[in-house]
Amino acid sequence: MKLTPVRMRCEHLENPLGLDSKLPRLSWALEGEGRNRRQTAYQILCASRLDLLESENADLWDSGRVTSSESVLIAYAGLTLGSGQRVYWRVRVWDESGTLGQSGSAWWEMGLLEPQDFRAQWIRLEREGADLMPAPMFRQSFRLEKPLKSARLYASARGVYEARLNGKKVGDQVLAPGWTDYDTRVQYQTFDVTALLEPGENAVGAVVGDGWYCGQLGWTFAPTFTRHYGQTPELWLQLHLEYADGSSEWVCTDDTWKTTTGPTLHADLYAGERYDARLEQRGWDRVGFDDASWKPVQVRVPENLTERSSKLVADRAQPVRVLSSLAPVALEQPAPGVYIYDFGQNISGWARLQIQAPAGTEIQMRFSEVLEADGTLYTESLRSAKQTDAYICKGGGLEVWEPRFTFHGFRFLELTGYPGVPTLETVQAQVVASDTPFTGTFECSSALVNKLFSNIVWGQRGNFLSVPTDCPQRDERLGWLGDAQVFIQTACFNADVAAFFTKWLEDVTDAQSSEGAFPDVAPRLVHVADGAPAWGDAGVIVPWTLYRHYGDLGLLERMWQPMTRWMQYLLEANPNYLWLERRNTDFGDWLAQDGEDPANAFGSQTPKDLLATAYWAYDSSLMARMARALGKASEALEYQNLFEHIKTAFREAYLLEDGKLLGDTQTAYVLALHFDLLEPDERQQAGKHLVAALERKGNHLTTGFVGVSYLLPVLCRIGRADLAYTLLLKETFPSWGYSIRSGATTIWERWDGWTEEKGFQDPGMNSFNHYSLGSVGQWLYQTVAGIDSDSNAPGFAHIRITPQPGGGLSYARASLETARGRVSSAWTLEGHSLTLELSIPANTTATVRWPYATETLWDAQQMEQLIAGDAERRTFLLGSGNYRLEGPAVQQHLQPLSRSEVLPRMQ
Ligand code: BGC
Repeated sequence: MKLTPVRMRCEHLENPLGLDSKLPRLSWALEGEGRNRRQTAYQILCASRLDLLESENADLWDSGRVTSSESVLIAYAGLTLGSGQRVYWRVRVWDESGTLGQSGSAWWEMGLLEPQDFRAQWIRLEREGADLMPAPMFRQSFRLEKPLKSARLYASARGVYEARLNGKKVGDQVLAPGWTDYDTRVQYQTFDVTALLEPGENAVGAVVGDGWYCGQLGWTFAPTFTRHYGQTPELWLQLHLEYADGSSEWVCTDDTWKTTTGPTLHADLYAGERYDARLEQRGWDRVGFDDASWKPVQVRVPENLTERSSKLVADRAQPVRVLSSLAPVALEQPAPGVYIYDFGQNISGWARLQIQAPAGTEIQMRFSEVLEADGTLYTESLRSAKQTDAYICKGGGLEVWEPRFTFHGFRFLELTGYPGVPTLETVQAQVVASDTPFTGTFECSSALVNKLFSNIVWGQRGNFLSVPTDCPQRDERLGWLGDAQVFIQTACFNADVAAFFTKWLEDVTDAQSSEGAFPDVAPRLVHVADGAPAWGDAGVIVPWTLYRHYGDLGLLERMWQPMTRWMQYLLEANPNYLWLERRNTDFGDWLAQDGEDPANAFGSQTPKDLLATAYWAYDSSLMARMARALGKASEALEYQNLFEHIKTAFREAYLLEDGKLLGDTQTAYVLALHFDLLEPDERQQAGKHLVAALERKGNHLTTGFVGVSYLLPVLCRIGRADLAYTLLLKETFPSWGYSIRSGATTIWERWDGWTEEKGFQDPGMNSFNHYSLGSVGQWLYQTVAGIDSDSNAPGFAHIRITPQPGGGLSYARASLETARGRVSSAWTLEGHSLTLELSIPANTTATVRWPYATETLWDAQQMEQLIAGDAERRTFLLGSGNYRLEGPAVQQHLQPLSRSEVLPRMQ
């Protein structure tokens, strides 16, 4: 049976339209029956037309037969590609017995590559006024005189746009072009609009909201709270028309376009949208519309072409879309005329309204994550973000409306102004986020843990909107580096976030200071500082994690220089190898719970310089590993030495005689252990003190954003998986379970966001949708179900399967879609027997570690499929395929079994 290449990707995307990497990289996964399936060679064929590809005429590139098992991120090496060029490709593979298999066809299309491709001008409606202004509309008409072959729209805005052609919305994206530092880089999107055009007269237009460009952004006290990047939104569109006769033409935004304002009275990410349907101009985006009353546009002072082209870049990640709709699960009326809808799930997005009412009827929709005790919205924690949409009816029939240029974080919607009594059908919630494919699954026998997993996934879905935001509701929603850093590994398991984070790392490098500092937030807002410990370090940790998970070495190459600048920035200020200087905002173990610990002699908080130094050491060790991956031997050595110096300084400064660490907090031990900052005997001591620190709290965690991500992994590493499970399954305060018992449907920003004793936390900082404390998700995949990547064979070329059953769970299973195919691991415990079912993708291998002690593993005959094994270490290497393993399970880990116990069997 041949191997078939599937899941064809180009630069991590499926059939991307408009790429500006000149040598895009191609990937495929392999499917094939049976075990130990391997690719021994591949051949990539690229053609300029599908029919050429089909007749095996690879006019652009034929890689020839390449003896290699590689199938991920192989760079195109054919003829130079021009702007807008479409490339069709397929791949042939030879398997372990030399049998040939072939993929279907896939394609990618180049974007705008040359400075002269950027023809359009930036246009705007000159506006004067303060906050919250109407959204401008722009239009132009043009004629198609000849039969059309194909058409592309390249579009962008300083603001957020919706492009229209002949009365229809172009594409299915929302909030395009997404957020970047608009002073440095603005993304454009590419749309295939061939089907939207008509022979003869056509009309093109767009509406542009303020968005991140000139709407409310950041903190109210900052001078740039509104109009952050500019005063008024601008539009940039260029339509490329290719005719059947081979000629082509452009329609571009320029001074001939007309503009006005219309029904969108304001559109703001925080404040919401206000729409007066009576002001709609029927047919404004169609031919035959009389725009005599519209004004001429203003053109942005022309920039020189090269500069302009360096600023406009192709969007390289999945767009933001409406991902799904949720019907309300309940409707209450806490006060006359005030209707509260409950969608049962905290999300980011907006609501779609259906109404039939007389012209001029004004409906208001307000949103919140939680309710007051009296059943009304609790909005105090939204701070200045009004999250309020208003719709004014035009009358005369059923009207269906949803906003387009805002988003809200909410579970509850308050509807007022509704004439009569609304029903559950009146509104539905629209889930809005970057469309990163969610392919990770996890399930186990604990309903609590399943809910935790669901909350983690919803936290990610609600916060990955163009950039990884801290929260989707209050006046913040920023790309905080610390949050991203602690959550990145969990994010990679849940979804394919390779393209999303590759884009965000560009925001991070755009935001690097001239001294080399990574920022606290990216895109950087001018008033936000250089990176704090565990925040700025995201610039090193995120590339490493993406490399490990997706095998993207090219990303490390691109990030190498920015990363070395960051390392230099730290070293030059801290010659004694303790990170004392340049700690900037110095958040420490943000929102930790170890405030009042009577037994803690050190003032209870994790010392901030200890935390900082531990992170610096971690950076150094990752830099050494990345240098090795990149073949930079001398740098690898340098960073390894730096790590050793920092480790020594760390031990001298923070390790006390009795083996305690200064601060004696859970986080201090967790960081020292996870980052390998101690000698073996010291590790033992630190492990004991960590356990003692937990015991002092009745086996509750006290860790904040920083400590929590490694707490459970470290407990497993010191042989206390039982304690890790205890924390996972806790329902008393503080714990994940406590928030779930209190009704959480996403991860809270703080352990004490709401408590029985105190009610809501300080509204100044209390989000109910913050993914950071959900970083435990990685442990569910890696340890409970037991699936992990291997940095020595990144991108799941080699997989580690090391489940650790515990916590009384009777089963657990997880799966994820890797670049090389679907991996799954499922175990069931019954008495003294464990069954482990595995699915290992073709062309990969997996090292499985049996979680229980056993003297004998599967015997040689039963294990004819087994590549190698090590009974003593309970590990064995498997090739691809589906496996069902049955073997002994004793409740205590690492207890040797007597020979009389059942021998493991494999099917
Ligand atoms: C954000 C966090 C962020 C923190 C910095 C908060 O306002 O919501 O998630 O990391 O500030 O400490």
